[in-house]
Amino acid sequence: MTKQLITSALPYVNGLPHLGHLIGCLLPADVYARYLRQKGEDVLFVGGTDEHGTPSEVGAAKEGMDVAEYCKKYHALHKQMYDGFNISFDCFGGTSSDANKELTYRIFNGLDQNGYITEKITKQAYSADDGMFLPDSYVVGTCPYCGYEKAKGDQCEKCTKLLDPTELINPKSAISGSSNIEIKETKHLFLQLPKMQADLEKWIETKKGIWPDIAYTTAKKWLKEGLQERGITRDLKWGFPVPKDGFEGKVFYVWFDAPIGYIGITKECLDQKGEHWEDWWLNPDEVRHTEFMGKDNIPFHTVFFPASLRGSGEKWTEVSFLKGFNFLNFAGGKFSKSAQRGIFLDQAVAEYPADYWRYWLMANAPESDDTNFTIDLFAATINKDLNDVLGNFINRVLKMSEKNFGTHVPAQGTITTDETELYQTLNVLVADYVKYMDGLEFRKALASLREIWVAGNNYIAKTEPWKAAKTDLARAGTILNTGFNLIRLYALLNLPVMPTVAQKMLDILGLKPETVDFAGFDASSFLSFLKGGEAFTMTEPLFQKVTPERVEELKIKYKEA
Ligand code: 2FM
Ligand code: ZN
Repeated sequence: MTKQLITSALPYVNGLPHLGHLIGCLLPADVYARYLRQKGEDVLFVGGTDEHGTPSEVGAAKEGMDVAEYCKKYHALHKQMYDGFNISFDCFGGTSSDANKELTYRIFNGLDQNGYITEKITKQAYSADDGMFLPDSYVVGTCPYCGYEKAKGDQCEKCTKLLDPTELINPKSAISGSSNIEIKETKHLFLQLPKMQADLEKWIETKKGIWPDIAYTTAKKWLKEGLQERGITRDLKWGFPVPKDGFEGKVFYVWFDAPIGYIGITKECLDQKGEHWEDWWLNPDEVRHTEFMGKDNIPFHTVFFPASLRGSGEKWTEVSFLKGFNFLNFAGGKFSKSAQRGIFLDQAVAEYPADYWRYWLMANAPESDDTNFTIDLFAATINKDLNDVLGNFINRVLKMSEKNFGTHVPAQGTITTDETELYQTLNVLVADYVKYMDGLEFRKALASLREIWVAGNNYIAKTEPWKAAKTDLARAGTILNTGFNLIRLYALLNLPVMPTVAQKMLDILGLKPETVDFAGFDASSFLSFLKGGEAFTMTEPLFQKVTPERVEELKIKYKEA
């Protein structure tokens, strides 16, 4: 059986994650991992924190901490926030580990031996006022390509073009704001991407029509512009020291060891379990690797990282499917920690259960374009989809059953055209859901899921069991039996997206999650699982409406108004 390796981009440890990070990689990766596990697949879901780079150094200095200790502190906070959202990592680690150092050196040495690494004296931005070279994102200025005035030295956030800090117009230090920037000479190592251009082009062409458009076109755009050699070392203290004579005091560039971090995190985690990381990472023929990331990460994972792996001379597992996302905006603007704009993960779960957010985000995933989060949109979706459709369906089935039959599932009885029509509708909708989940088209999958809930409500509205209960109790029993079987179906279908809600739904019937592959779904047999007589437990409504008062309160609190 193909092994399913799933990786979610590793957010920088210094910035705490918000809803944008969640939907940009972590949550869809989790939903997909849960979906595949439910099918019975062999899944390894890997995530963690990206710990090197200047932001960690600067953050630690601000808090008067040692950088490694600072990373440990924030790594634990990230983990706590992901736990709050039930992100089901099999391996969770950080990029500054010894395991990652070992793998970074292994890949670097391979690249070096194969002639893909060259030395060059470069000119770098030096800030006399800060007393240090200012790498990458710590030089800000105007993007020479699109004119964006707040471009960072490593990448322009507006046009996504990768930059060299020395290219910026009117450069300034992001640490002190000083424009006293001197360009000094310093020796660095470069990855010879131009040598790999043809090979990468051939490879990316095989992804046409298979990968989402955003992943394929971003890679193509980059390749079309022609690959440039890329510096992989920096004049910093925090990072993996460069293991080469003449490079003492220098460290690897954060983006060199970050993607290798997926492998390092797996190694650290599986070594502890006595399992073999090589089964996942040096096993391309048996492993399907699905990567989840925001659009700004795509160039690194379609060109830079694959080039590092290919050039090292070993047969690494590469990305098989790259699921890239656009950005989530907060009420029309960017999430910003410094401006206190947006909702961070600890805040979100303190307001509403994680599953509310999980559902909203997945139903509105920024797949084809950037998506806007607003409190009004959140409230409308929770109230309509979760409360009025799904929650109401469950309440009605439970209440009517208890009233007429006590706390045992009524018997199935004779099936009529009402049921066979429901079966036909469900067969089509579940097949759609499977198609979209298998294709990682999450918005469409969630729309199908909602239609499946609606089909249950329509069935109850049409069959009117409250009326049948007065004239034909056996018929009312058949309808409510179908209702309970639908609750089980919905619980299992909801599991990847809303694991807590799904478990509560299963608890009603005293059931456990089970391995189920919805491919080839047949409603007639699936909805005959509960024959009648099974005990059930009444439960409080699973959802609560987001009231207009709460909407106003949240708008003020999160500066949306
Ligand atoms: O964009 C970011 O937040 C990066 N820290 C992502 C790194 S993903 C991987 F390559 F490690
Ligand atoms: Zn730009």
